[in-house]
Amino acid sequence: MVQGAVNWNTGMSQKWLQEYVDDWVSFYRKHTSEGEVASYIPALKEAKQDHLGISIIGMHGMKIRSGDVDVKFTIQSISKVLSFIVACMERGVAYMLDKVDVEPTGEAFNSIMHLEMKQLKKPFNPLVNAGAITVSSMLCGETSEEKLDPLLTLMEKILGHRPNINLEVYESERETSTRNKAIGYYLLETGFLESDIEVTLDTYFKQCSLEVTIDDLARIGLILANDGKDPDSEEHFIPRQVARLAKALMLTCGMYDASGKFAAYVGIPAKSGVSGGIIAVSPPRVRNEPLPFMDGCGMAVYGPALDSKGNSTAGIRLLRHIATQWDLSIF
Ligand code: DON
Repeated sequence: MVQGAVNWNTGMSQKWLQEYVDDWVSFYRKHTSEGEVASYIPALKEAKQDHLGISIIGMHGMKIRSGDVDVKFTIQSISKVLSFIVACMERGVAYMLDKVDVEPTGEAFNSIMHLEMKQLKKPFNPLVNAGAITVSSMLCGETSEEKLDPLLTLMEKILGHRPNINLEVYESERETSTRNKAIGYYLLETGFLESDIEVTLDTYFKQCSLEVTIDDLARIGLILANDGKDPDSEEHFIPRQVARLAKALMLTCGMYDASGKFAAYVGIPAKSGVSGGIIAVSPPRVRNEPLPFMDGCGMAVYGPALDSKGNSTAGIRLLRHIATQWDLSIF
């Protein structure tokens, strides 16, 4: 049974928090029946509709995991945050912002309409497909392997292992993604792309097909919460300015045309993907009373049943509940 308001002052042992989170995952799992597993990429249809899991990693080793935590899934649109970060590290923030804007669209992630109707000088933002495909074209390298190597190296440094490309999902998307090809060719025609169109699209399809777990995404979220720095080794994986820019984009554009509602009701930077993952970042917060994860944490949920915007139905509800209970909102 889901709890009402809790006085977190009364003790915050890991075991106690774990029991709450287990309770909330069980409660919110029923909302998986309200969504649908993505099917426009045939290989994604194999996901289990009723899966729901969460991983939360705090600054000093505190870790809460609950539900379907060990499922591997493809990162999909969450890769857009990482490719933008790597492109900023390679090309510089000023150059990237000259080529891709930072404005929310209010449109679906794969919308083409606004590109032509608004006669844009640059795509709206790096977290919708048009912006992300432009960013993929701006990664350094001649081939998709060369372009993705620094992204994989960054993930390897943060995670301690190098993620694989799920070849079944990659091939499934490459064979079926006529809309992304249409977006890519429109970007080519308007002069936005900086690399060969086929290499650009191949890079985009491969980055979406990287295999991760919620622990991987929560760890990346933790690094972003700490402005790009590993809280234990103090190594700066991502420059502070780039990490902060990525969080601003996640907050304003990360949940597509549901970003406003997510900011209003959950209030932390996040990014979703059509395989059902959501990465969320809770920066350190100052309050008058002790609350869980006050130094900040990275969180990730997996729940492949999606709503009409392409976001995990149960995952969003679970994050909203936790954000309310633990007063996570940055506002
Ligand atoms: O562009 C596509 O179709 C996918 N590979 C990625 C889309 C995605 O994850 C959108 N997320 N909600």
